[in-house]
Amino acid sequence: MSDPLTIALAKGRILDETLPLLARAGIEPVDDLSKSRKLVFATNHPGINLVLIRSADVPTYVQYGAADLGIAGKDVLAEHGGEGLYERVDLKIATCKMMTAGFPDRPLPRTRLKVATKYPEITRRFFLERGRQVELIKLYGSMELAPVVGLADIIVDLVDSGNTLRANGLTPLETIMDISSRLIVNRAALKMKNEAAKALVEKIEKAVE
Ligand code: PRP
Repeated sequence: MSDPLTIALAKGRILDETLPLLARAGIEPVDDLSKSRKLVFATNHPGINLVLIRSADVPTYVQYGAADLGIAGKDVLAEHGGEGLYERVDLKIATCKMMTAGFPDRPLPRTRLKVATKYPEITRRFFLERGRQVELIKLYGSMELAPVVGLADIIVDLVDSGNTLRANGLTPLETIMDISSRLIVNRAALKMKNEAAKALVEKIEKAVE
């Protein structure tokens, strides 16, 4: 039998929408992912394994070929830069927006704006294109707290329902990009494991339709 294909999946919210999509493509893990501490999972296909990792790590695993395919949000893909991988399918799940947000009626400083974010690359590019000087403050979560405690003037974060912003007295300001999950494929895998990888991409593509 040929080498198995590995799909890297992100833990957390996105997984709840990813598993039904994979099931529609006929791929189901043998174990219950939510109840196991395992990181590698067999599926009903002997030729397909799943690995479960932090969402920001999915592009890295696929870039280096540790996983042949991956499912990751456009946010982590844009932050990673996409080296070594192809973005093949917009899965149209886990949709939201990447936005700037701040206090509704607080004027922003004219000098260097302090921006807190988990996405320093996207944020740097966004403000660079606008010729705006910013001081980036890298955080790993709960960005909404930063303006509240005076750590930053504004944040760059994902907005879905807007509830987290509202609950902290903040308002969305500008949209940076629309976000959804994407199927990504290692560039070499598409060449070396050509047929199997292509067939799997097509199966998942059909499941989206
Ligand atoms: C995400 C995001 C926002 C929130 C937006 O955080 O960073 O905080 O969801 O959703 P809403 O507009 O529906 O309120 P998540 O809960 O994934 O946790 P995180 O802070 O660890 O990123």
